[in-house]
Amino acid sequence: MNALEYIKKVPKAELHLHIEGSFEPELMFEIAQRNKIEIPYSSIGELKKAYQFGNLQDFLDIYYAGANVLIHEQDFYDLTMAYFKHCAEENIVHTEIMFDPQTHTKRGVAFSTVINGIQRAREDAERQYGISSLLIMSYLRHLSEEDAFETLQQSLPFRHLIKSVGLDSSEKGNPPSKFRKVFEASVKEGYIPVAHAGEEGPAEYICEALDLLKVARIDHGNNCLTDPKLVERLVEEKMALTVCPLSNTALRNVDDIKNHPLKKMLDLGLQVTVNSDDPAYFGGYLTQNYISCIEALDLSLEQVKQLVRNSFQYSFLPEEMKEKFL
Ligand code: HPA
Ligand code: ZN
Repeated sequence: MNALEYIKKVPKAELHLHIEGSFEPELMFEIAQRNKIEIPYSSIGELKKAYQFGNLQDFLDIYYAGANVLIHEQDFYDLTMAYFKHCAEENIVHTEIMFDPQTHTKRGVAFSTVINGIQRAREDAERQYGISSLLIMSYLRHLSEEDAFETLQQSLPFRHLIKSVGLDSSEKGNPPSKFRKVFEASVKEGYIPVAHAGEEGPAEYICEALDLLKVARIDHGNNCLTDPKLVERLVEEKMALTVCPLSNTALRNVDDIKNHPLKKMLDLGLQVTVNSDDPAYFGGYLTQNYISCIEALDLSLEQVKQLVRNSFQYSFLPEEMKEKFL
């Protein structure tokens, strides 16, 4: 079997996926219509044409605008269920889903509306497709730490449904150190800390995420490659990096998939995984991320097997569940 045949069939896990980033234009138009919300594009085609990004902020502006049409619990259910359908088609058997409560609570949508819709979809996906999932509540780093504390408070009645806390949105100028206290408080509540770091921001932000936020995984982490000492540390500590190849090219952090550092990262001994990040915006779900890398970087079957093993190894599944896939 070659690497392409293998990746299409094998059971896989996804560790870096923003549910709001799986919002396909077709569903966005449907929900906008039923909620009687205007979107500033006349057709699905016109909306898709806007998906040309020069950097992370260009993308975030459109991503937050798209999320504006999500109002009711059913909207969050439909959004999440649509992603699980993709998982079922691609044999993604476990997924760790990030959601951004502040994107919705800031617009007057209750925390409970968001999480109840997502949770109902998780239960249906487990029942219908046998897909296991968990939730990563992500704080928006362009907002204040005080605002993140408010979100932490709002999450407490739903603590049993949330496994982990993350940090996303505009990285430059919003270092992990800004959120040290709220991460400390989140860990006290039992949440496992992760953070986006080194996507657009410097290697220093990865060090801060490790030292100050005590993260269990780094989301992206590509810019560690500018600091050989940090690479050495990440290898030694077996710190997982959730790399998102098609996101990196769509946001121009990598100029061409042929120049993506994934293979180099594997060769250096970094514990990397492949993920889709925001598949509705970046041109591919998880399997397509693997396929693009296999084709552009000539990954071997053994390397692809390693990436798939890593996706389970560095998941937050209980050890006995991981073992089924390792
Ligand atoms: N980076 C930072 N924040 C995000 C992303 C991303 O790729 N996707 C959704 N929020
Ligand atoms: Zn992300």
